[in-house]
Amino acid sequence: MKRVGVLTAGGDCPGINAAIRAVTLPLLSSGIEVIGFIDGFKGLIENRTVPLDLPRISGVLTRGGTILGTSRVKPEKYPLPGGGKMDKTAQAVETWEKLELDGLVCIGGGGTQENSFRLMNRGIPRIISLPKTIDNDIAGTDVCFGYDSAMAVASEAIDRLHTTASSHHRCMIVDVMGNNAGWLALGAGVAGGADIILVPEWPFYQEELIMALERRRSLGKLFSIVVVAEGARPCESSLGDTALPQTSGPPQNLSSRLAVFIQDELGIETRVTSLGHVQRGGIPTPRDRFLATLLGTRAAEEVREKRFGAMVAVRGEEAVPVPLEEVAGKKKIIPPDHPWVAMARRIGISLGQ
Ligand code: F6P
Repeated sequence: MKRVGVLTAGGDCPGINAAIRAVTLPLLSSGIEVIGFIDGFKGLIENRTVPLDLPRISGVLTRGGTILGTSRVKPEKYPLPGGGKMDKTAQAVETWEKLELDGLVCIGGGGTQENSFRLMNRGIPRIISLPKTIDNDIAGTDVCFGYDSAMAVASEAIDRLHTTASSHHRCMIVDVMGNNAGWLALGAGVAGGADIILVPEWPFYQEELIMALERRRSLGKLFSIVVVAEGARPCESSLGDTALPQTSGPPQNLSSRLAVFIQDELGIETRVTSLGHVQRGGIPTPRDRFLATLLGTRAAEEVREKRFGAMVAVRGEEAVPVPLEEVAGKKKIIPPDHPWVAMARRIGISLGQ
């Protein structure tokens, strides 16, 4: 083992630099050279690198984002300047061979697991990957790093919205990230004391929303907090998607239309806050630093032991390799019988059903 490459791909999140550090330090201490690829798989295709040496990884444990940069470029769909895409897997393999790499560590989300699995079968055999995403929707791992930091940001925002909602007796709708899975909405909603949480896993009924808000009002609660995952959708019920008013002007997102609907139906002043990429920024929480270090050091061990073809996953209190073919292309979404769903219901949260 002389030289190993590291890349970070997909949406960034706090904890990635902690993972880069955790992979690199053990390898350097074993006398292995570590090379970082700039901007994910794009840098692998273009052979754009920086040395991951001690000075470069010093002090990055608590830094958000990724010192290597990232992109969502897929090797088989490389964007061409004039538009269109081209399969540049061959160029990625050429870089692998030219640099005489003995291993490649890919840190990323669901797309990165898929890209790693494809590359593994198309000329880059020795790949280990790590699961990162604020969505926490990667199969095969109990949790992804990035999730805890995003949940902390979203929960803190919801705490702040509580004070202004109660002052103005308003319904506050909070848009959080999570296109395919509602883990972030569910986690932050419960932690932030939301009254209604809408997730992509199951469509919601507008009627249920109105009943939940009316129940709160009948209990003398003059404000409410509704957390909406960006992938949440109304059920094709009696009201259906069309019933949510689409006022004139540019197409409004779901939450904006929900706000108008709630105001029209109940006369409750309603406002929308979209947290957006704030949830992806900032420094990693201690738990995310810990998870990234647990996963990264195990990945370094797998590389040193010449064991590849796996994503290192969190299982209980340890990190274990899971074959990439069991992970690639699979999403981890909330099962309706998940304990967290029962917990939310027990505390009185409406899930729009
Ligand atoms: O995959 C993580 C994520 O933050 C999703 O929650 C969100 O929908 C998406 O990335 C946003 O992608 P981008 O940063 O490319 O706009």
